[in-house]
Amino acid sequence: MPPFATRQLRFPCGTVTEYHDAAHASDQATRFLARHLRVAPGSVVVEAGCGTGVLALLAARGGAGAVHATDVDPGALDLLRAAAAAQGLDRIVPHLGSLLEPLPAGVQADLVVALLPQKPSPGAFDVRYAGGADGADLLCALIEQAAGRLRPGGRLLLYHHSLAAPVRVERALGRAFLWRTLAERFRLCRRDRYAALAPGILATLQRLVAEGVAQAWEQGPHLVWRARVIEACRRSVP
Ligand SMILES: C[S@@+](CC[C@H](N)C(=O)[O-])C[C@H]1O[C@@H](n2cnc3c(N)ncnc32)[C@H](O)[C@@H]1O
Repeated sequence: MPPFATRQLRFPCGTVTEYHDAAHASDQATRFLARHLRVAPGSVVVEAGCGTGVLALLAARGGAGAVHATDVDPGALDLLRAAAAAQGLDRIVPHLGSLLEPLPAGVQADLVVALLPQKPSPGAFDVRYAGGADGADLLCALIEQAAGRLRPGGRLLLYHHSLAAPVRVERALGRAFLWRTLAERFRLCRRDRYAALAPGILATLQRLVAEGVAQAWEQGPHLVWRARVIEACRRSVP
């Protein structure tokens, strides 16, 4: 495994050590979501798009009976495997693949948690951030897959920001879930830093804002948007 560093992260549901490197690390968005993670003892938890797996590690530390963690990036899963082994969190099973697709057929979850790539862009770019043409492709695919994987009454805990087609995401949620916003805050990024993420990404966002698809505001040299944690409960009656 390439060189990595470790750091201890403390949250309401526990303390874990993350293994991270230059290309894989949790950030402020992970911490925002992690503050709202609650895990019932013995429950089955799935983290989709786990990266270094901070949320999966926390779920295991918090008493989950089984934790499945998926990612398309094998390097991220290697870091999670190493961190889980070092902390004796052997109930975590990493799976290489997209969203919930690599889960074994019989897995039914009590909780699906995800902080997925969701920046709109005109083409593919960094797999950690690219969410398709309006930012919501992976989120909407996950919402649909989670509806088939969660037990009735099971929960979906999602990070979602207002750059990623809020109306489309809310419509997808409404098909199978009762949902609410648990927490919300503003995010601020220098416009030039945002533009440097990928060719055409700023123009794409400005067009989506003008069309009413995305929500963001320009304040001096900054872009501002809203980030929220969504809690959605699987309806038992379709
Ligand atoms: C913004 S990062 C968040 C990582 C982690 N959840 C965290 O909070 O630190 C998004 C992650 O989703 C992964 N990813 C991208 N497309 C994916 C897909 N189709 N299925 C599963 N994971 C994916 C990326 O490799 C990356 O690790």
